[in-house]
Amino acid sequence: MVDIMNTSKSIVITGHSIGGAIASLLTLWLLCRLQTICSVICITFGSPMLGNESFSRAILQKRWAGHFCHVVSQHDIVPRLFFAPSCSFQFISYENKTQLFHVVLDSLGVVSRGECKSSFCPSGSYLFCTNKGAVCVDNGMVVIKLLYFTLLNSSQSSSLEDHLDYADFIRKVQWQFIENRSFMEGSIPKSSYEAGITLALDSLGIASHEVNFADAKEALKKAKKLGRTRNLNSANLAIGLSKINPFRAQIEWFKASCDNSAEQMGYYDSFKQRGASKRGFKVNMNRIKLAQFWDSLIDKLEANELPYDFHKRAKWVNASQFYKLVVEPLDIAEYYRTGMHLVKGHYMQHGRERRYKIFDKWWKTENDTDNPTARSRFASSTQDSCFWARVEEARDSLIKVRAEGDARKFLKMLEDVTKFDQYAKRLIENKEISQDVLAKNSSYTKFIEEWKDLQSQLQLLQPQFP
Ligand SMILES: *[C@@H]1O[C@H](CO)[C@@H](O)[C@H](O)[C@H]1NC(C)=O
Ligand SMILES: *[C@@H]1O[C@H](CO)[C@@H](O)[C@H](O)[C@H]1NC(C)=O
Ligand SMILES: *[C@@H]1O[C@H](CO)[C@@H](O)[C@H](O)[C@H]1NC(C)=O
Ligand SMILES: *[C@@H]1O[C@H](CO)[C@@H](O)[C@H](O)[C@H]1NC(C)=O
Ligand SMILES: *[C@@H]1O[C@H](CO)[C@@H](O)[C@H](O)[C@H]1NC(C)=O
Ligand SMILES: *[C@@H]1O[C@H](CO)[C@@H](O)[C@H](O)[C@H]1NC(C)=O
Ligand SMILES: *[C@@H]1O[C@H](CO)[C@@H](O)[C@H](O)[C@H]1NC(C)=O
Repeated sequence: MVDIMNTSKSIVITGHSIGGAIASLLTLWLLCRLQTICSVICITFGSPMLGNESFSRAILQKRWAGHFCHVVSQHDIVPRLFFAPSCSFQFISYENKTQLFHVVLDSLGVVSRGECKSSFCPSGSYLFCTNKGAVCVDNGMVVIKLLYFTLLNSSQSSSLEDHLDYADFIRKVQWQFIENRSFMEGSIPKSSYEAGITLALDSLGIASHEVNFADAKEALKKAKKLGRTRNLNSANLAIGLSKINPFRAQIEWFKASCDNSAEQMGYYDSFKQRGASKRGFKVNMNRIKLAQFWDSLIDKLEANELPYDFHKRAKWVNASQFYKLVVEPLDIAEYYRTGMHLVKGHYMQHGRERRYKIFDKWWKTENDTDNPTARSRFASSTQDSCFWARVEEARDSLIKVRAEGDARKFLKMLEDVTKFDQYAKRLIENKEISQDVLAKNSSYTKFIEEWKDLQSQLQLLQPQFP
């Protein structure tokens, strides 16, 4: 599989029935293991439900729902089977298909009305296929309702036949796309919105005289509204971004003014040691407002209220990266300024906000190049947004190492500091830092002095120390 992933641009994994569940598991495994550019899509046919609500939520949070499409034929019993409580299976004889059918139908009815929670929950998109067409929905509750409504008008025999008839359904769905569909006599809808819903109900094989018609219509309207809300939310966020951009610009001005100031502290240390100035207060407010905006964006994303590919759109990948590079140093400064490292531990391990880790991932998946273009000038922002946290940790080690009695810990600390020193020098050489790092009174400059100091002391003690 790893070989295939490395040589292909996209992979489609598919399976029928239990094989569908296995296909989903394999897809999840790949998504967990390989965060590569290779795209993975899983298409299942008549797969049983795989996981509970937590499982489904985890897939949403990981932004993986778009990788799954579950095809369900009109009356197939298998995708609906696990909505029946597992204890009920003890009393069913599998030969008695009528009994099995009714237990599943009744349980599904109870779950779809919200009277009882099932231990299974749909995740990903569901494509409902009937002889008349197909409808795709991805909201878990709507999926359950449609699983119920489309089963209502069915019989136990078709519920087993349909499980084995996917080839036929797929063939028909293909033809639906090119057939000239017309509405039933006297039911010409008023708007294109109504037309879409009516067509979808028609495709689901639910006719207007059936008892479940109104409920199914309501469920479809909800699904459609969710789809529109996502695009609307995305558009509103774009407006929100343009409104908060000035806050970030003010932080950049602050940075520029620190670079030009006589104190030569750089903006990290200027912000960390700020007095009760109006300017420092303003920069801090901007930092907080920006964090609120990006946190609310992540909340929406994880509640599935944004389009699936939102986190891959260049605009957002770029904006979040830019935000991270400019503002995370200030978060680090605030963390050490308020002594949080003494309470919770160092920033990298214990203080880093979740949003930055998420933005790291967005950026990494979109920019898979290992060698960035060579720079001739220093970057406008240090390319490692955690640089200052590493400096703080290294300086802390320099203090602690002097008092360390345990020889092994002592060597480990020296090794860590040496590693950081080499890492920082490499960044400077490649000009991947901004010039504030090298300011005369910056924490980094102080680290270099302290490190040299310690090295010369060690050489006095142990002449063989490099
Ligand atoms: C879902 O299943 C997992 C694993 O069995 C379990 O740890 C978790 O508590 C379940 N969540 C819910 C909401 O039932
Ligand atoms: C099957 O189950 C139904 C409902 O429980 C029952 O009425 C019927 O007699 C059963 N049929 C057979 C052949 O066992
Ligand atoms: C299903 O609905 C059709 C009309 O759409 C009706 O003719 C048929 O009798 C129904 N079948 C069952 C099993 O209820
Ligand atoms: C589609 O069907 C309608 C009515 O059934 C008819 O008036 C129309 O000409 C057809 N369109 C095409 C492109 O065949
Ligand atoms: C990274 O990705 C963004 C958005 O896709 C793009 O605008 C930018 O140029 C890329 N940067 C590098 C260094 O590849
Ligand atoms: C990314 O954002 C920066 C700052 O807003 C901008 O200068 C740059 O052109 C953007 N790049 C892309 C590819 O959108
Ligand atoms: C900054 O460094 C200069 C010497 O380079 C020193 O005179 C000055 O006091 C320092 N300022 C601060 C705030 O540390």
